[in-house]
Amino acid sequence: MITTRPAREDDEAALAKIDERTWTPAVSPAPAPPAGTPFFDDGTRPEDVLVAEHDGVVAGYVRLGEGFGVPAHRHVRVLDGLAVDPDRRRLGIAGRLVEAAVAEARRRGARKVTLRVLGPNAGARRVYERCGFVVEGVLRGEFRIDGADVDDVLMARSLA
Ligand SMILES: CC(C)(COP(=O)(O)OP(=O)(O)OC[C@H]1O[C@@H](n2cnc3c(N)ncnc32)[C@H](O)[C@@H]1OP(=O)(O)O)[C@@H](O)C(=O)NCCC(=O)NCCS
Repeated sequence: MITTRPAREDDEAALAKIDERTWTPAVSPAPAPPAGTPFFDDGTRPEDVLVAEHDGVVAGYVRLGEGFGVPAHRHVRVLDGLAVDPDRRRLGIAGRLVEAAVAEARRRGARKVTLRVLGPNAGARRVYERCGFVVEGVLRGEFRIDGADVDDVLMARSLA
């Protein structure tokens, strides 16, 4: 059974482990976080994160951030982190997390949810498409990863 809930401080170890097992240059342009990097910090608090449990075990998370801190951008929330335990993929967990994040964004007053995904990350793009996100723009060759130019794809779902 898959359930979602707000993250708690005591999810720290499970979420850090998922991040550790998930990071590759195919899913993030950022350098690999050094081993032992805490999941929660000043920029990522439990209230920014929703967790999925699969049969009672923490199996993935989604992070819901704010846009630019100006009034003109207050109606937008940004889905800026999504990962599922490699042992529990293709079970619908990411889809449930994204839908939960969209519902939470709506509850917080958002009228639009945006995200960025690397062009070659076909799995994540499929998840977002299945959840109603559409491509609104492509930054061509925005990142240089392992010697290749990689597009940054901007996707969004309107809640209006
Ligand atoms: C991308 C990721 C979150 C998907 O998680 P998941 O729980 O396996 O996804 P789901 O089971 O909810 O799949 C939802 C849909 O996407 C499809 N999908 C998932 N992974 C896929 C893949 N690697 N290739 C093709 N389609 C894929 C599923 O088949 C399903 O489509 P369907 O409803 O048509 O059958 C997971 O592979 C992951 O953690 N990847 C590494 C981190 C990452 O890329 N994060 C996103 C950064 S923007």
